[in-house]
Amino acid sequence: MLEEQEKYIVKVKEKNKSKNLKYSILTMGCELNENDSEKIAGMLEEMGYTKIDDYKKSDLVIFNTCCVRENAEERLFGKIGEIKKIKESQDIILAIGGCMMQEKNMLDKIKKSYPFVDIIFGTHTIQNLPENIYKAIVKNEKVKDVIDIDGEIFEGLPIKRNSKFKASVTIMYGCDNFCSYCIVPYVRGRERSRKPEKILEEIRKLADEGYKEVTLLGQNVNSYKGDEKIKNFADLLNEVCKIDGIKKVDFISPHPKDFSDEVIDAIRNNEKISRIIHLPLQSGNTKVLKEMNRKYTKEQYLNLANKMYERIPGLVLSTDIIVGFPGETDQEFEDTLDVVRKINFEQIFMFIYSKREGTVASKREDQIPEDIKHERFNKLKELFEAKIDENNKKYIGTVQNILIEGPSKYNENTYEGRTSTNKVVIIEQKDNYKIGDVVKVKIIENHKWYLKGEAMCS
Ligand code: SAH
Ligand code: SF4
Ligand code: F3S
Repeated sequence: MLEEQEKYIVKVKEKNKSKNLKYSILTMGCELNENDSEKIAGMLEEMGYTKIDDYKKSDLVIFNTCCVRENAEERLFGKIGEIKKIKESQDIILAIGGCMMQEKNMLDKIKKSYPFVDIIFGTHTIQNLPENIYKAIVKNEKVKDVIDIDGEIFEGLPIKRNSKFKASVTIMYGCDNFCSYCIVPYVRGRERSRKPEKILEEIRKLADEGYKEVTLLGQNVNSYKGDEKIKNFADLLNEVCKIDGIKKVDFISPHPKDFSDEVIDAIRNNEKISRIIHLPLQSGNTKVLKEMNRKYTKEQYLNLANKMYERIPGLVLSTDIIVGFPGETDQEFEDTLDVVRKINFEQIFMFIYSKREGTVASKREDQIPEDIKHERFNKLKELFEAKIDENNKKYIGTVQNILIEGPSKYNENTYEGRTSTNKVVIIEQKDNYKIGDVVKVKIIENHKWYLKGEAMCS
């Protein structure tokens, strides 16, 4: 299959020879989508295209879509409209791929209302892109390449990574959880884990190329299933940490129901593993959690979080919360606030429930009115912001090791970095720091979304 695609890579490259063609990719989704975009970029570069940011100046534009919440649709239609205008005066190939193309109603809509789109591909057919581009640019065909069945796992696709320092590695595809609000299992198919050896091989190669950090990706990363030797996620973490050269290991997203003691031990025993862990809560109410099909209760979540705090010194938790799930009462929402009061989340990604066609929750009659959803969202936001202030104050006067990320976006005379707990710190004193330097900094002020600090003399 991939060999077949290599032939098309050669053909397209030949066709594009000495034309200096440009491509751009707009990634609209999560880390997994971003990782897919890196693979798409890898194939395009082999076909002789060069990356630029401005899609209006590109010869080939790829939109890699997301459909986890409704607002993504409006955004995509706006972008397609912009390309349509450009298409009137210049040759530009438009390819749309990703999760939204796996939704039948969206696929039909694009085909009907936007017939000028050149290539449509889904989440299981990324590897066919060379052939699809060949058909579009040589044969002038409109291509639709979306399949419903779970794709195989294709190893060895070329990849062009966004960073030279940090790399994402998808360890499993799909999701079997069917949380009742979520469309991901429908558009990404069933869980498929990559073979441990393939993952380790990829990470060893990254280490050889000078990468220092890896993030292991999966929609339910800790339900990873390996082989006889490296059986599960905990085993995989232990093996990844043995790779010399890799200094930091991160993962996203784990599910609380699969957070085994072995995984907790693996984190505790390996200093390379990040102490910032994302542990999606979704709701703090046991009845709502059951209706969401999350498979844990409020108490189980709290017990897990507390156990993790006890066993992993320096642990910092972040989370995802959905407000306004169908049928959620004020009292049930109070339970969510209660969990937020009890756990010191460093960051909360808050979402207003969005009805996704085809999911179990979308069929419910008791959808929550928009104004109530917004009210709850604001309440949660206020509570969290007050907690951040309280939390930040604890840093004032302390000395922290700050990992420099570069000059600050807001003031070029300052640097921006992060504490080991992921807090953004703006460093007042100017010195010549390089990205990746670790600097001792005294924290002097709290600005809610960031802390201000002074570099200590070394
Ligand atoms: N697999 C990950 C999350 C994937 S989607 C996990 O289970 O944690 C990222 C986040 O989007 C989810 O955690 C959830 O909070 C939010 N989300 C998913 N579907 C949603 C919907 N229909 N409405 C609002 N938020 C949603
Ligand atoms: Fe969606 Fe739940 Fe799967 Fe996450 S675990 S992708 S929220 S179904
Ligand atoms: Fe969106 Fe698909 Fe990721 S729906 S959140 S891009 S898996």
